[in-house]
Amino acid sequence: MGKLLEVNNLSISFTQYVQGLNRHDSKVISDLTIEVDESEIVAVLGSSGSGKSLLAHSILGILPYNSKVTGEIKYKGQVLDQELKEQIRGKEISLIPQSVNYLDPLMKVSEQAIGECEDEKEHAERKIIQREVFNKYGLDESVDDLYPFELSGGMARKVLLSTALVRDPTLLIADEPTPGLDKKSVEETIKDIKNLKDHGKGVLLITHEIDVALKTADRIAIFYSGYVIEINTVENFKDAEKVLHPYSKALINSLPKNGFKLTEGVQPLDEVPGCPYYENCPIRLDKCANSKPQLEEHESIMIRCFNYKGVNDGA
Ligand SMILES: Nc1ncnc2c1ncn2[C@@H]1O[C@H](COP(=O)(O)OP(=O)(O)OP(=O)(O)O)[C@@H](O)[C@H]1O
Ligand SMILES: [Mg+2]
Repeated sequence: MGKLLEVNNLSISFTQYVQGLNRHDSKVISDLTIEVDESEIVAVLGSSGSGKSLLAHSILGILPYNSKVTGEIKYKGQVLDQELKEQIRGKEISLIPQSVNYLDPLMKVSEQAIGECEDEKEHAERKIIQREVFNKYGLDESVDDLYPFELSGGMARKVLLSTALVRDPTLLIADEPTPGLDKKSVEETIKDIKNLKDHGKGVLLITHEIDVALKTADRIAIFYSGYVIEINTVENFKDAEKVLHPYSKALINSLPKNGFKLTEGVQPLDEVPGCPYYENCPIRLDKCANSKPQLEEHESIMIRCFNYKGVNDGA
């Protein structure tokens, strides 16, 4: 399988001015590495504020102006610079944005889904596909001529979803596509995402719902405080024994069927000198306080932890 998306050592920080001229850089994504292959769905799972949307926005080239980015993003082996991002976004790479604010308030929703198109024949062809996709999500013809402000929240989410699918993307970045949707539309969304995969496409599925990730994805990447701490298969994620990071184990144990054993503590907001999970970690070593583990490969699992084997080496 060919690689569609490669994100290598991506870091994103924001420069902010606190109390007048005091410059403060806050790092929100650190040394992030992740890949999506053809015919693969990779879920990015992390709690609120862990940097999931920023990852999506950096791939699409829509980060805010005060962000500083290092690292590399490749699409089909080619470095994605800003020019290429702008060229292919909405076409080869589509985003289902997290917020309905991404809809253009001045444009009818059907025209947004069809996209800019001068050629009459192509426009007519796209119109047919747009109607089919809208129909599938229960958006009837009367919706086509509406403007975003005339939509209910649920309808707006369905319009965002449909809009990303009309152009038949090769890579779909879905940023929390399901919250707020009725059960039928959630099932429909999961089916569509899987359908893309069956047609050789790749999907980066951003979610904080572990059950959606388990139902949909092939691999799951766990975000913690702007770091990827583990990338493992969905099969392994069904069993706390088969994941390596203590935070991944805690996440699995927090599922309803495992009795909601929730993790304690909060993710650090500021850059810490050691492992970001140090404060909450049940298997921490002394060295974890002041040095950061790198993402390393262990039997095809990517893991960022000094002590994942559970062996206290006395370091
Ligand atoms: N323009 C900005 N300037 C400064 N900090 C920002 C900016 N945008 C986002 N952040 C910070 O970056 C961090 C990650 O934000 P992001 O929106 O990617 O989180 P998320 O994982 O998508 O959360 P959620 O699950 O709530 O959508 C947050 O702490 C946020 O406050
Ligand atoms: Mg988000």
